Amino acid sequence: MMLKTLVALAACAYSALAAPYPHDTTSLIQARAANSTACPGYTATNIVVTDAGLTADLTLAGAACNAYSEDIKDLKLVVEHQTDDRLHVKIYDAGLNVFQVQEEVLPRPTNDKTASSGAAVRFDVAAKPFAFKVTRNSNGEVLFDTAGTPLIFEKQYVRLRTNLPQNPNLYGLGEHSDSFRFHTKGYRRSFLNAESINIPNNANLYGSHPVYFDHRGEKGTHAVFLLNSSPMNIDINQDDAGNQYLEYNAIGGVLDLYFMAGPGPADVSKQYADIVGYSAMYPYWTLGFHQCKYGYWDVNMVAEVVANYSSAGIPLEVMWTDIDYMDGRQDFTLDPERFPLTKMKELVSTLHSRDQRYVVILDPGVHAFMEVEAYKNGHDADVFLKAADGTDLLGVQWPGAVAWPDWFHPNTQGWWTDEVLNFFDADSGVNIDGIWVDMNEASNFCQDTTCKPREKAIQDGIPPKPANSPRPNTGRPIPGFPSSFQPNSTKRSLETRQDEGQMKGFPDREWFKPAYTVNNHVGGLSDYTIWFNTSNYDGTHMYDTHNFYGHMMAMTMQKSMTVRRPELRPFVLTRSTWAGTGRKVTHWFGDNASDWEHYRTTIRQMLSFVSMHQMPLVGSDVCGFNGNTNEPLCARWAMLGAFQPFYRNHAELSTIQQEFYQWPSVAEAAKKAIDARYKLLDYIYTALHYQTTTGAPMINPLFFLYPTDANTFGIQEQWFYGDALLISPVTAENSDTVTYYLPNDVFYNYWTHEKVQGKGANVTESGLSTSDIPVHIRGGSIIPMRSNSANTTKALRENDFTVLVAPDANGYAKGRLYLDEGERVDQPDVSEIEFEYKDGKLSTTGSFGYGGNGDESVTVAEVVVLGQEQEAAVGAFSAEKGSVGVKGPWKLDAGFEVQL
Ligand code: GLC
Repeated sequence: MMLKTLVALAACAYSALAAPYPHDTTSLIQARAANSTACPGYTATNIVVTDAGLTADLTLAGAACNAYSEDIKDLKLVVEHQTDDRLHVKIYDAGLNVFQVQEEVLPRPTNDKTASSGAAVRFDVAAKPFAFKVTRNSNGEVLFDTAGTPLIFEKQYVRLRTNLPQNPNLYGLGEHSDSFRFHTKGYRRSFLNAESINIPNNANLYGSHPVYFDHRGEKGTHAVFLLNSSPMNIDINQDDAGNQYLEYNAIGGVLDLYFMAGPGPADVSKQYADIVGYSAMYPYWTLGFHQCKYGYWDVNMVAEVVANYSSAGIPLEVMWTDIDYMDGRQDFTLDPERFPLTKMKELVSTLHSRDQRYVVILDPGVHAFMEVEAYKNGHDADVFLKAADGTDLLGVQWPGAVAWPDWFHPNTQGWWTDEVLNFFDADSGVNIDGIWVDMNEASNFCQDTTCKPREKAIQDGIPPKPANSPRPNTGRPIPGFPSSFQPNSTKRSLETRQDEGQMKGFPDREWFKPAYTVNNHVGGLSDYTIWFNTSNYDGTHMYDTHNFYGHMMAMTMQKSMTVRRPELRPFVLTRSTWAGTGRKVTHWFGDNASDWEHYRTTIRQMLSFVSMHQMPLVGSDVCGFNGNTNEPLCARWAMLGAFQPFYRNHAELSTIQQEFYQWPSVAEAAKKAIDARYKLLDYIYTALHYQTTTGAPMINPLFFLYPTDANTFGIQEQWFYGDALLISPVTAENSDTVTYYLPNDVFYNYWTHEKVQGKGANVTESGLSTSDIPVHIRGGSIIPMRSNSANTTKALRENDFTVLVAPDANGYAKGRLYLDEGERVDQPDVSEIEFEYKDGKLSTTGSFGYGGNGDESVTVAEVVVLGQEQEAAVGAFSAEKGSVGVKGPWKLDAGFEVQL
C-alpha cells in the first residue's frame, strides 16, 4: 500500500507544482516567500521508488546564489525505511567530495530495508521546488516539512529548514547549559566543541550531539539526528509571520538525517541508541562516591584526603589525581619529588587493599621535546598531526608546547597503548583503575595561527630549558616547583593535502573565516584549538573532524585500557564528546562554577545526556569547580549529586578545599546521601544495565513517564532516578523550601514511607535542612535495596536485600533486579529478576544465575509493602507506620513468592 503511495508521489513529483504538497495553503507559501532568498533550491528528477525507499537526483534549480560559497549543482537523495521506526534521508553531493563522517568514527546502523507499508512514518517528496515531508502514519502528524524554504547546499554552507507546529516541545542538541526544553523564538544552538570555562549559556560547549527530541504529548514523540560533524548553528525561531521553524546552518558536510518515530519518549531513546550505539556497561564501583581536586599538592596530600574521609566516616570509593601528579604536567610522567613512583605505588596498593580505587588524568597534547619519552616515541612512530612543512604541528597545553596526536594515523593506537601499558603497568607503574581524558576539544592555549607555541609557552612564564637537560620541566608555573626548559622553535606553514571524490572534504576551502560562520564563545571558528586547515592522516581536515577530536581520543584511550586489562570493563571519563561517544566512555559536565545556577544546571544537563544522548554515567563537579563553594551549597550539592549517576566532588586549583568533611553540615548531608545512594546502588546499577541493553534511560525526565501530562514537559529541576524515584531538591539559595510537581498518581515519601496522592499539581515543602532532599517512590514500583549501606561498594554487596513494594492505585507494582559480578566484561552468570506484586502477593521470576562472590549476599532478608492500612497479617510485621513486612530469608537462586 505504501508502495502505491510512493509511486503516486513520485508521479506527482515530476510535475512542477505550484504548491509543494497538495494540502499546503497559499497563505503559508506566501509567508515562506519572504524567507526564500535569491537561492534557487533544487529540482528532483529520476525519482526511483522501491519497496523500502526512494532515490532521486537533485539539480540546482536556477542560477547559483552562492550565498556563502559555491552552490553545488548536483546532489543525490537517498531515502530508506531502515526499520519500521527509523527513516533515513540523505542528501549529498553527486561528486562525493563533501566530507562524510568516517565509518570508524560512527559505524552506520544496518538497513533492514523495511517495506514502507509497515513503517511508522511516511516520506513525501515534491520535485520542484524540491522539498520533503515526514508524516506519522498513525495520526497524520507532520513531523518534518521543508516546504517553503529552498535547500541550500554549498561547499561551505548547508541550510535546511523544517516547519514546526506552534510552541513545540524541543529538547536535546547537547552539549549546552540552557533550559532543558528549548525556547522557541530566537534560540540558537551552536555546535563547535570548545574549552568552556563556567559553561556559559547560549554557547557551544565541550561536545556536539546534533539530535533533537520533539515531544507532542498524546500525538507522540520523535527525534531527528543529523549525522554531520561540521560546526553548525541550529536555529529555533519563528519567521516574520510567526511560523515556527528549526533550521540547520552548517559550514559543510552532508544532510544525513535519521528520523526516529517513537512513539513514546523512551522508544525514541532506544531508537537513537540503535543508530549511535548503546552505552557501555560500567563497573559497579564507578557508582560509588569519587573525590578529586586540581591542586592536591603531593602524594601525601592525596593520602591525607583519603584518610580524612575515613576518619570523618564518609565512604570514599574512588580517589582521583589531576595533572598535579605529572612532572611539569607532561603526560605519562610522575613528578619525582612530589609524586615519586615508590610512594605512588604504595598509595595505590593501599587504596586497593582497602577496596578503594584510583583514577588519574591525561591530556591529548604531548610535550614536544625529544627528551620527553612519550613525545619521542610518538614522533618516531610519526603519529602527530603535521604542519605543511612536515614538522609536528604544535600548540600549547599545560606542559607548554605540545604536539597533537593524529587519531587517524595507523600507528597512533599502538603508540598510545604502549605508553599506557608502560606507565600504568600494574607492577612497575601506577596501577590505575580508570582514566580521565581532558582538554580534548582540543583546547589550545594558542589562539590562532599567529601564535608561536614555543614562544607562547615561554611568555606564559615558563623559564627556558637548559641545554641537554635530561628531564625537561616545562610546565606552566607550579607554585614552589622548579621548572626549566629551552624551547626550540619549529617553523610551521599551513598547507593541506588533497584527496578528491572520496567524501574527504574539498581541499580548497577557506579554513579560518568562511563567509558563513558558527558562533564560538571563545572567538573565531578555529581559535584556541587545532587549526582547521590541519589535515588528518586519512586526508580529511580538522575543519570537518574537529568536533570529534575528543571522541577519537577517548575511543583510543578506551581501547588502550581494554588492552591493559582485557577482562575488565574500562572506565574512561572524557570532557569532549560527540554523537555515539557514550557507547564506550562517559562524561562529566566540565568546568562549572560553584554557584546555585550551576547547581541547577547540572539537573538539565543530566536529563539531556542520559535520556537523549545515550550517555548514562554522567554528572557535574559536585560543589562546583570554579570559585569557592560554600557550606550550604556544598551540602545541598552533596545530596543532589548522590541522585545523579556519576558522583564526583571536584574543584579548581585556586579554590578552597571542598571535601565533604570540611564542614559539619556538609559531612552530615554527605553521610545521609551516600547511605541512601548505596542502599539503592543495585537498583541504579540495574537501571544502568537496562539502559545499556534496551536504551531505556536510567534517569527519566518527568515527561518520559507522564508523556500526556503537559505540566511535566518543561520540568527541569526534578527527575526520576531510575524509573521509580522522583527527586525534587531545594534549588534556591538560602532556602529551606521547594515547590515541586507531583503528577496525578500514587507516591510514597521515600524517607517516611508515608503515602502521598499526587494531584497533578505543585506541592510546597518547607523546613528542609541541608541534609534533606524530597524523594518520592512512584506507586507501581518495586525497588530492590540493600538493607544497609557500607564504606565501600565491595562491602555493600555483603549486605542482604530488602525488597520495597510501592503499590499503585490498583494495588499493583513491578520492578527488576540485575545482578552480576560487577566488573568483568564477560559475565557468564547473571540474574535478571522480575518482581511483581498483585493481589497481595509478591512473586519473582526471571533468571537466577548469579550466586555471589565470596562474602556477597544474594539473599532477600525482607519484603516491605508500603501504603498498607490493615494490620500486618500473621507472620508479617509492621515495618513502619503504613507498611507491612515479611522476613525471609529468600536466596535469589530461584524464584520465590510471598503472600502479604
Ligand atoms: C580542565 C578540566 C578540569 C581540570 C583542569 C586541570 O579545566 O576541565 O577538570 O581540573 O583542566 O587538569
